[in-house]
Amino acid sequence: MNELDFSGKHVLVIGGSSGIGNGIARAFLARGAVVHVWGTRERKEDYSPEEGSVLEGLRYHKVDVLSSAELAAYEPPFESLDVLVQSQGLVLYRRAEFNPTEFRRVIETNLNSVMACAMKFHGLLAAARGTMIILSSIGAFLATKGNPAYSASKAGVLGLTRSLGQAWAADGIRVNAIAPGLVETKLTRVTTGDQSRLAATLQRIPLGRIGTVEEMAGVALFLASPLSSYIVGQTMVVDGGRLL
Ligand SMILES: NC(=O)c1ccc[n+]([C@@H]2O[C@H](COP(=O)([O-])OP(=O)(O)OC[C@H]3O[C@@H](n4cnc5c(N)ncnc54)[C@H](OP(=O)(O)O)[C@@H]3O)[C@@H](O)[C@H]2O)c1
Repeated sequence: MNELDFSGKHVLVIGGSSGIGNGIARAFLARGAVVHVWGTRERKEDYSPEEGSVLEGLRYHKVDVLSSAELAAYEPPFESLDVLVQSQGLVLYRRAEFNPTEFRRVIETNLNSVMACAMKFHGLLAAARGTMIILSSIGAFLATKGNPAYSASKAGVLGLTRSLGQAWAADGIRVNAIAPGLVETKLTRVTTGDQSRLAATLQRIPLGRIGTVEEMAGVALFLASPLSSYIVGQTMVVDGGRLL
């Protein structure tokens, strides 16, 4: 038996249009799954590999998770859902998160939409006895000086993962989260594209390098597979040792 063969399985990656979510979507595709991804742009062609988006073979749908109308209008083209990955995320720089409106926008994107999407797909996940994987961050465990909303939202995701893990275990759904350290995506270019900032960050990572989307995808495959069948409500830190 190959526990990492997802042939015949249906996977939806919210935030699968780019970065970590896109890497996770491609990993499931490579292992036989039918993979649907959501992003904010109108069409698949609006994304490019230079930005960290490779959408070939993935079924793209535009759904802005900040729009309850768009979320409600999405009719799933599958009758049961084996894996739901929630990788949508927003961070605002230059102290914008200290503005109350922007603070709410980040919480809305990174936390409230996760609950809304979880509820939308609860029935389909239960039908498949599926798994849900949420992207948290090491910002859930650390103070992030310039990003109070990001840190609060990711700590919120940690709590939500525990509560939904407990609440939905009886429905046969396993809920877990991944807390990445630094991975190069369009969300983190501010750091990875700035040599002095990057060098300062690398000094604090015992493995001495940033992570890759493939390394995050490996953990997602594990959490969606029978190899992790006794893990529920946990947040797995995948950070090259940064939190140590
Ligand atoms: N990269 C890191 O170092 C790192 C570290 C810790 C945690 N994370 C978390 O990992 C997740 C993925 O981030 P990433 O680094 O891969 O960044 P990314 O490349 O910018 O991906 C973010 C994804 O979220 C989608 N998204 C944002 N707002 C949305 C909305 N309103 N409706 C629907 N989709 C929306 C984006 O869609 P578009 O492509 O259309 O913009 C994109 O697919 C996030 O939750 C992030 O907080 C990342």
